[in-house]
Amino acid sequence: MATPTTLEKPGYLGLLNAISLAESAAGVYLEAWANVTPNADLACTLRLVAARERSHGDVFCRRISELGFSLKSKANPRDAEQLAKLANPNISDLEKIPAAREEGADPFGEIRRRISEGEFDPMTANLMNWYIAEEKDSGRRLRDAYDCVRDMGRKPSGKMSQASNDGPSADAEAMMACMTAGFARLEKAMEKLVKASK
Ligand SMILES: [Fe+2]
Repeated sequence: MATPTTLEKPGYLGLLNAISLAESAAGVYLEAWANVTPNADLACTLRLVAARERSHGDVFCRRISELGFSLKSKANPRDAEQLAKLANPNISDLEKIPAAREEGADPFGEIRRRISEGEFDPMTANLMNWYIAEEKDSGRRLRDAYDCVRDMGRKPSGKMSQASNDGPSADAEAMMACMTAGFARLEKAMEKLVKASK
C-alpha cells in the first residue's frame, strides 16, 4: 500500500497555527496576572479565561496534527512584553487593563465569512464556531471585570473602606455600581437580540 508522501496543505493552516500560538501565550500571561492581582473577582475571571485560552492553544495544535502537519513555534516579542507587564505585581490592575474599545466591527467577521464560504473542512469549521463562541463570551467577561476595575479606580481614595452608619459602605456602593453597569449592558444586548430576531 502506497503511503502518501506529500499532503496538500490547507490554505488555512497558517491561521490555525497563529490562533494556537496566540491563545497559548494569552493563557500564560493572563494566569500570571491572576497570580499577582489583589482583586479576587478579577483573578477569578482571569483564571477562567486563561484556562480557555490554554485549551484553545491545545485544541488548535491538535487539529493541525490531525490534518497531518505540526505546529510551528514562532516567538512573538509582544507576548514577552505582555507577560513582563502583567506578571509585575508593582504595576496596578488599572494600568494593565487595555483601553476601553468602542463597539465596532466584529473581530471574528473575517473568519465567519470564511466559514460561510466553505473554506474550512467540516471538523475545522465546527472547531472555529466553538472557538468564536468562547472568545465572545470571554471578551464579555473580561470587559465586565475591567469595567469594575475602572469604577474602583474612579472612587475617591479616602472612601475605600470607610464604613458608614447612614448608608451602604463605599465598597458596597462600588459593587452595586458594577452590578448595575453589568445589568445595563446585559439589557442592551438583550434589546439588540430581540430587535435582530424581529
Ligand atoms: Fe483568545
